Amino acid sequence: MTPEPTPSAHDLLAFYLEAGVDCALSDEPADRLAEPAEDLPAPRDVAPRSLPPQTNMPAPAVMRDVAPAPDAAIESARALAPKAQTLEDLRALLQSFDGCALKTTATRMVFADGNPQAKIMFVGEAPGRDEDLEGLPFVGRSGKLLDRMLAAIGLDRTSAYIANIIPWRPPGNRDPSPHETQMCLPFIRRQIELVDPEVLVCLGKPSSQAVLELKDGIMKTRGRWVDYHTGTRTIRAIPTFHPAYLLRQPIYKRLTWQDLRAIKKVLAS
Ligand code: URA
Ligand code: URA
Repeated sequence: MTPEPTPSAHDLLAFYLEAGVDCALSDEPADRLAEPAEDLPAPRDVAPRSLPPQTNMPAPAVMRDVAPAPDAAIESARALAPKAQTLEDLRALLQSFDGCALKTTATRMVFADGNPQAKIMFVGEAPGRDEDLEGLPFVGRSGKLLDRMLAAIGLDRTSAYIANIIPWRPPGNRDPSPHETQMCLPFIRRQIELVDPEVLVCLGKPSSQAVLELKDGIMKTRGRWVDYHTGTRTIRAIPTFHPAYLLRQPIYKRLTWQDLRAIKKVLAS
């Protein structure tokens, strides 16, 4: 057996970058072991160890001050999102929404790209590194493939609208948690309603499951039309493969091509 060559510093950095480890959480390194004891929270800031055995008790004030409980954040997203009367309102609402902690680690919010008047809207999952830096969805490697998928049916970013369920990059490209998804869903639902496309395309399993509420995996659901109800109207929706998946599994481009042709037919009708 030949031993693996020792990786160079450059190889290691390239590996970290590929794995998504490319962001520091602050500009200055913090030596947490050297932090003086007086920086620890004073005892009164610490949640009491033993709470009376009561149910339905309001959370102690100190806990509420730290961040809204996740469910409160979902509730507030549900109450806020329908208030947006335009896409610009919605963008501003999201900018000032503090319920989702991903906002604090993301470089910038990724709201949308393309034409809000388009007849077709694509919804992905969450921004990656390139999107986080540019503030636009699908600009990295999978975005380049999405552009080619659009071109295959005569579309580009002037005739399609593109967004994600989650508008902030999860650190290191980890999967968004179910809570983060639930918190961002009211906003993407309102975005779909405001764009009001003829056709909604959900890219990949997370988008199809969250937006279209389909329980099956993408292999089963792709290429099948379903109704998406905005509350005021029904939109024809279809799941297809995520371009990031197609980059790893090019064999499924053939099926994606079938889905794209079906989409083209519906757009022309
Ligand atoms: N993957 C997504 O789901 N969305 C993007 O914007 C980029 C990659
Ligand atoms: N899993 C996903 O999340 N998306 C795909 O397109 C394929 C597998």
